[in-house]
Amino acid sequence: MTPSDVKATLSFSDGSPSMELPIYKGTIGPDVIDIRKLYGQTGKFTYDPGFLSTASCNSTITYIDGDKGELLYRGYPIEQLAVQCDYLDTCYLLLYGDLPNADKRKGFHKLVTNHTMVNEQMQFFLRGFRRDAHPMAVMTGLVGALSAFYHDSTDINNPQHRDIAAIRLIAKMPTLVAMAYKYSAGQPYMYPKNDLSYAGNFMRMMFATPCEDYHVNPVIERALDRIFILHADHEQNASTSTVRLCGSSGTNPFAAIAAGVACLWGPAHGGANEAALNMLEEIQRNGGVEKIGEFIKQVKDKNSGVKLMGFGHRVYKNYDPRAKLMRETCHEVLTSLGLHNDPLFKLAMALEKIALEDDYFVSRKLYPNVDFYSGIVQRAIGIPVSLFTAIFALARTVGWIAQLNEMIGDPEYKIGRPRQLYAGSVSRDIKPLADR
Ligand code: CMC
Repeated sequence: MTPSDVKATLSFSDGSPSMELPIYKGTIGPDVIDIRKLYGQTGKFTYDPGFLSTASCNSTITYIDGDKGELLYRGYPIEQLAVQCDYLDTCYLLLYGDLPNADKRKGFHKLVTNHTMVNEQMQFFLRGFRRDAHPMAVMTGLVGALSAFYHDSTDINNPQHRDIAAIRLIAKMPTLVAMAYKYSAGQPYMYPKNDLSYAGNFMRMMFATPCEDYHVNPVIERALDRIFILHADHEQNASTSTVRLCGSSGTNPFAAIAAGVACLWGPAHGGANEAALNMLEEIQRNGGVEKIGEFIKQVKDKNSGVKLMGFGHRVYKNYDPRAKLMRETCHEVLTSLGLHNDPLFKLAMALEKIALEDDYFVSRKLYPNVDFYSGIVQRAIGIPVSLFTAIFALARTVGWIAQLNEMIGDPEYKIGRPRQLYAGSVSRDIKPLADR
């Protein structure tokens, strides 16, 4: 960390001694005030629920400028990665710090491809779930269960174990998501096919049956690959912070990633794409474009509890750059599939237009986020709505692993242990049952 010449001084109005706090500079983005000695010197904690002003770690992986609407993976703008690289290039970049040359690229693609199959026993494990279980419930279980199948890569303190767990997770996530889908549909599992691309193989495992040949549609293959790239990492969001915190106890990588999957499920995070599509379908059922005004009124009413799903972001206070790219993909897919007159897409466009002009959203800097469009794309591709978040989890797995491995390799890493402002009862004695 680069120290700044500027120091912060913390003073107290009750005459307690003031304290000088060092400041560190990032390569870009806000500086941080180092408060590690604060408790030792003042006996006070900082209070920041939701981490609104707290950097929980220092990282070299992903940078977001929420005001500019900028997203960089290892310094490369998402707009360039989405157009010039594929998802596995992006995985290599996030894991190892730079894009691969031609040889390394070939080797990495081969390595991932060689690990796409899962232990045959996993299908029997999967059978224990109800067929109508939510795919994220199934994925949380399956990912956690990997630690019961791959004992030779569970030591988080062993760099070789971490490397092989990383490859296994990236390679096996599409297989597991597709198996979860096939199980819910009552269809046979399709084994991976190693001459296809990462996205193409996933499509085949999802949509092919043993009865017919399957041809990968290149437009859909590209769209899926883009969804994967755009969701690959997003610095210290809720699920990534969960993975770091979980991994900080020294648990195995599969268990830490399973914790990330569980966190991602929530509608304020990865579940937003499913929630956004459910919202569009409900407006459509209740009268469609005509009823947008009424719906927006509800969203603005704080007592209604209704939110415009797929809008707003903790960090982006400008257009989400991923949303711009996803919007483009959305048009490409719908045109290619002849769905550009799809009423749901028209409804989404009308909703977007109204929200972007409405003072409620403008004054709060609420723009569409990536999930607003990714749901429409996935629905057009034929992915069931309940599987959307599982696809997000598949794509985000590489980010979780890169962040977890970065943390374990950091000499300053400690178990994560937040403190609290206790506002409960002071010490008291238990009364006998009859007197309570
Ligand atoms: N619809 C209506 N009002 C909203 C929305 C929304 N989607 N998002 C924020 N607001 C309002 C909020 O009520 C608050 O108003 P006020 O200042 O009057 O109290 C103001 O905007 C600021 O919002 P906030 O809740 O303080 O912002 P936050 O940073 O805590 O929440 C968020 C960010 C993403 C949880 C929230 O915007 C949200 O719930 N959006 C809908 C869910 C969604 O699309 N999530 C996906 C995020 S992108 C994918 C990912 O990275 O996981």
